[in-house]
Amino acid sequence: MKEVKIGILGFGTVGAGVVEGILKNGELMSQRTGILPSIGKIADLDIESDRGVKVDASLLTTNAFSVIDDPEIDVIVELVGGVKAAKDFVLRALKNGKPVVTANKALLAEAGRELFEASAKSGAGLYFEASVGGGIPVLRALRDGLVGNQIKSIYGILNGTCNYILTRMEREGLEFDAVLAEAQKLGYAETPPDLDIDGLDTAHKAVVLASLAYGAPVPMDAFTVEGIRGLSHREIEYADDLGYRIKLLAVIREVAGEIEMRVEPSLVPQDHLLASVHDAFNAVFVEGDVVGETLHYGRGAGRLPTASAVIGDIMEAAAGRDGGSAWLLAHKKLPIHNPQEVSIRCYLRLSLKDQPDVIAQVAHVLGKNNISIGAVMQKEQNVGEQVPVVFLTHHALEKNFVAAMKEIAALDVVDGEPVRMAIEDFE
Ligand code: HSE
Repeated sequence: MKEVKIGILGFGTVGAGVVEGILKNGELMSQRTGILPSIGKIADLDIESDRGVKVDASLLTTNAFSVIDDPEIDVIVELVGGVKAAKDFVLRALKNGKPVVTANKALLAEAGRELFEASAKSGAGLYFEASVGGGIPVLRALRDGLVGNQIKSIYGILNGTCNYILTRMEREGLEFDAVLAEAQKLGYAETPPDLDIDGLDTAHKAVVLASLAYGAPVPMDAFTVEGIRGLSHREIEYADDLGYRIKLLAVIREVAGEIEMRVEPSLVPQDHLLASVHDAFNAVFVEGDVVGETLHYGRGAGRLPTASAVIGDIMEAAAGRDGGSAWLLAHKKLPIHNPQEVSIRCYLRLSLKDQPDVIAQVAHVLGKNNISIGAVMQKEQNVGEQVPVVFLTHHALEKNFVAAMKEIAALDVVDGEPVRMAIEDFE
């Protein structure tokens, strides 16, 4: 029986989950694979607090490098989060020839290329299943079961916090700030919640998915990233009236040999599977040219779901299989499509003065910018002198929407900031 000794950096929620999972199912894993995982050492700045798992105190240290440099440790699990220290730890471990398992999407999105190259140079693998979709083994599906496919598109609900907030706003008619405050009180949302609600966490995960699907390291500033901060319940209500739900969606697809990518709150048709992904769940909808449409669904965060993916990677590393670095470096790279040239449909919600000719003025600006209107909805719901009017457009270029929205916002008959969201047709 081969034993694999694990060194864990970061004894937080997921670190404790990894220990719990291994204590629970280590024996089963060894029966299945012939490899027995065992906890060798754990490093954290806090080695006093109770994590709810039984660990021999002699395994705990505050010195991460004493774990990374220990010749008895076979695999390093990086769960410290953040970028700077985590990067130093991962590079040192790889240099020491130790495979590294990480759940750190920010690190991969910002320094992935350097880490994959370090991994290739040292021959020690880098494993990152837990970085996207928590417990959902979607990266392995892309590299393994879907290897025979060109990936046509990936649509992901990748942030549990945002999906939880949107679900509660939708079900209970609540406003964003109220749900966020409650989610933080219950410990669902981080404090500060910026990475989640401003779309950055979703964008980091999208970068990882895009690099596996299309080989390209997509820089974070090369695509549109918008979150759900400040989304009004009105948008959810109007979207519902028009047959849609609002989801924070990562869209990654190939368009004429280039990667189109964006992260933004989007209208999803109510009869699409992704519209039924509620609460803190994640889902990744992948379309391959051979397999067609597939859906990968599960818990995208949390102690045990994320630990499940980390443990899977530990076993992959112990078996000496590629975790994705070799695949990534060898993959043909597609260029990145200019975000201004992306063709989308949009939902526009304006507060207009309730007087003659106002819709004509807006329609004129849209038409002038080559944007065709697909539907218009105005209810007798005046707020003072204003009336909300919603337009659904046909496809047009992002740059035309940007120009049109600037002109529309400057019209005298328009009050406040117009709201614009993408409509996803999954075509
Ligand atoms: N904060 C993330 C979420 C989980 O809410 O989905 C970690 O990626």
